[in-house]
Amino acid sequence: MAEERPLARVTCTAPVNIAVIKYWGKRDNDLILPINSSLSVTLHQDQLKTTTTAAASRDFAEDRLWLNGEEADVGHPRLQACLREVSALARLYGAAGEPSEQGQPSEQGQPSEQGQPSEQGQLSEVARRGSGSACRSMMGGFVQWQRGERPDGRDSIARQVAPETHWPELRVLILVVSGEKKQVGSTAGMQTSVDTSPLLKHRAEVVVPERLALMTRHIRERDFEGFGKLTMQDSNQFHATCLDTFPPIFYLNDISRQIIALAHRFNAHHGHTKVAYTFDAGPNAVIFTLADSVAEFVEVVRRSFPPAINGDRFVRGLPVGSASLPGELLAAVVTEPVPGGIQYILHTKPGPGPQLVDDPSQHLLGADGLPRRSP
Ligand code: PMV
Repeated sequence: MAEERPLARVTCTAPVNIAVIKYWGKRDNDLILPINSSLSVTLHQDQLKTTTTAAASRDFAEDRLWLNGEEADVGHPRLQACLREVSALARLYGAAGEPSEQGQPSEQGQPSEQGQPSEQGQLSEVARRGSGSACRSMMGGFVQWQRGERPDGRDSIARQVAPETHWPELRVLILVVSGEKKQVGSTAGMQTSVDTSPLLKHRAEVVVPERLALMTRHIRERDFEGFGKLTMQDSNQFHATCLDTFPPIFYLNDISRQIIALAHRFNAHHGHTKVAYTFDAGPNAVIFTLADSVAEFVEVVRRSFPPAINGDRFVRGLPVGSASLPGELLAAVVTEPVPGGIQYILHTKPGPGPQLVDDPSQHLLGADGLPRRSP
């Protein structure tokens, strides 16, 4: 009698994270080991998430992958590295997710000298092999990716600094400036920076270790003044290392620079740090603020960058109350309006790490292992 060979399907969602102490530069390109530690905030999946279904069966002849409904190259070295690491962890833990009995774990499972990393720490090693900064999305709240010391990367893992419940008033506004693809990808960009920027070397060796300690303290103490100021300074230094790269790399555009100036005028008007910006390898701004400042700042942004189209969909995500701006704030903060400069604002907050999806109707792959529907 032919043996029943069931198909296993698992669906999970994963969040986006935004760094407040930036990662830029690898010391090992194959293992994806960074030249400095970094720290990020995991964003809430009610507003932004990825959904992934994995299907496994002994009947499948080969690995296949679909990304947004399109079949993708499964031979990509980074994807292959992830699949290898996942298989090693699966062998170690067995189907039940418990360490296996024979489980004198070899290779991947070997406890590090500093102690066994948590299960999430081990999973962050897998994510790191796909894209470095992705390893910080394996946990919610405030997450540090430790640079690590070992050449094999076993101690280059993500650890939670504080859970998402730690700072309930913290809010995030993503100002979407342009839908354009980034000019220079992060992999190529950071390699050129490592090869040519003396500022990046100084940053990794001297500046980041001090800032990480300081940032961790600001987060623990929920000190927005300290957190916001250091977030802006670290974003600015990251972009300074891009300018110090030869040939230079530019990720900020005119609108990005206008947002920076606007945030500083807003803070100066209030006499303290009410909003803090940060920018990655592209022109979009991410603003940190506290719940009681959201409505006023959103109104300032609307006045500064009047929506060209989609006026009713200019603000998305968590609800934003209405605010009327006092005349002296308008005069001091809103200068020449730039219509259409910002496409829309997404309002979100810190959130939890990856989630398992229980509802089987949410699987993206059918019982045959093929995509169920196009997105
Ligand atoms: O993980 P990558 O290769 O996409 O690099 C991310 C780099 C930045 O987003 C600019 C900074 C960071 O720490 O996320």
